[in-house]
Amino acid sequence: MNRPPGPDPADIPALPPACPHRRDMGLPDGPRLTPAELHAMENERLLAAWEEYERTYGPLFTLHGDGTAPRVYISDPRAIRGLFIGNRTVWGARGTRYFRPVIGAQALPYLTGEAHRAVRLLLAPALHGDRVRALGPALDDIITSALDALRGTSVPLVDLTRDITLRLIVRVAFGPLGDERRTDCVRLLTEIMDLMYEPAASPDADTATVLRRVTGRVHELQELVAQEAGVVRAGEARHRDDLLFHLAAGEAAQTDEQIRGHIMTLLIAGHDTTAGVLAWALYQLELHPRTRRRVRAELDAIGAAPAAAEVVRLPYLNAVCAEALRHSSVVPAGLARIVPEDLEWAGHRFPAGTELVPAIHLVHRRPDLYPDPERFDPDRFLDRKPTGAHYLPFGTGSRRCPGAELAEFELPLALARLLQTPGLRLTGAEPGLHALKNGPTMTTPPSLRVALDDRASPQPPRGQGSPS
Ligand code: HEM
Repeated sequence: MNRPPGPDPADIPALPPACPHRRDMGLPDGPRLTPAELHAMENERLLAAWEEYERTYGPLFTLHGDGTAPRVYISDPRAIRGLFIGNRTVWGARGTRYFRPVIGAQALPYLTGEAHRAVRLLLAPALHGDRVRALGPALDDIITSALDALRGTSVPLVDLTRDITLRLIVRVAFGPLGDERRTDCVRLLTEIMDLMYEPAASPDADTATVLRRVTGRVHELQELVAQEAGVVRAGEARHRDDLLFHLAAGEAAQTDEQIRGHIMTLLIAGHDTTAGVLAWALYQLELHPRTRRRVRAELDAIGAAPAAAEVVRLPYLNAVCAEALRHSSVVPAGLARIVPEDLEWAGHRFPAGTELVPAIHLVHRRPDLYPDPERFDPDRFLDRKPTGAHYLPFGTGSRRCPGAELAEFELPLALARLLQTPGLRLTGAEPGLHALKNGPTMTTPPSLRVALDDRASPQPPRGQGSPS
């Protein structure tokens, strides 16, 4: 792994003063939209509208709406690099508006500056290194149990992948919860997400509407978190390595409200995302049998029951995951950064309050960086570690996704295990399916389903299993 496709980001100069999309000291050009147009654009027309505006206005364009701050979408890697990595501005944060009542205003996506940095440092140990690698056996057990439930039936593919990623993030957050508690937690989170993502909900749905939908369940989940924190504080749980233990009993012990915010943030941000990419990867492999056979051959070459550590090192499998992360646009944009005070930059003036958004989907569809960008082609990433401002599935700069390492462990392992499951079949995998909007993420449509043959023999034993 050494070199991403296209120019090395280190070689990309800061945006030159005479860049082609320079406008003299104003916001970049862009459309003025009515609230209804803005709503439609944020929902059913999301990606198509961005592509159209980029074609019309260039790689920096501004959406103007009545009563809302101007929002500038940026698909030029040099501009993304110059603004979000090479610039010392402490950006304000907007987070996703309709998550705020659920995870609380003190949660990571709404914090800025030092408070933001401190929370990221606090969460980091649970999401990196040995802690992540130790999750292999738990993920295997979760997949086995999800497949047992699927045997003889068929469900939308994303329901299966979501079940897997949700159970894993619950494991990361709470450690090995008792069966009843774990089932409650998974059920509550599923219900909360489903209510929030009903078609009527939109990123601009007002707080009261969102609260009415989910209040009861959010309180139940908060209560569950508080009770588990109580168990940790009472010293009934010892030597655990989960996030809750770290937050409630660690050196920087947190209040109940802070713990709830941090745990809820990770539970919500940490499963639909990975589930969407996993489903997209399976769909693409169904459409590309040669690619699928190549992954299978690589897996077969390491034996019938390889340990997680061996699987996640496989080069072609990793290239498939990297390409699925690029191609799926599961998180099509980074979090909006709010300009703290009037900013002049590369020939533009961004008034205080302007929202700057890394347009991840558009970067990943640039033909100069990814020739024939609609083609699913893992060879783009074979033996090349994709990094830098032109590969942004996890965003960039100080807000880069803190769960990236976990996701990059979970994705290849889960994909490998599912591909090696005898009798697992996708149905409805027609070419040209479009990802659907699912809150701030994108997902595969429900017509894409997965079934597990009733008569297929169960999975072979793997690595060294351990209870989850
Ligand atoms: C394939 C899976 C995932 C993708 C594609 C993804 C993508 C992203 C993106 C694009 C951002 C915004 C970054 C920016 O604006 O620069 C983000 C933020 C975030 N992600 Fe992820 N993510 C994934 C998995 C996870 C997981 C597993 C977790 C938790 C364990 C997680 C937790 C978060 C949090 C808490 C933030 C907010 C960070 C902040 O405000 O500082 N994500 N993610």
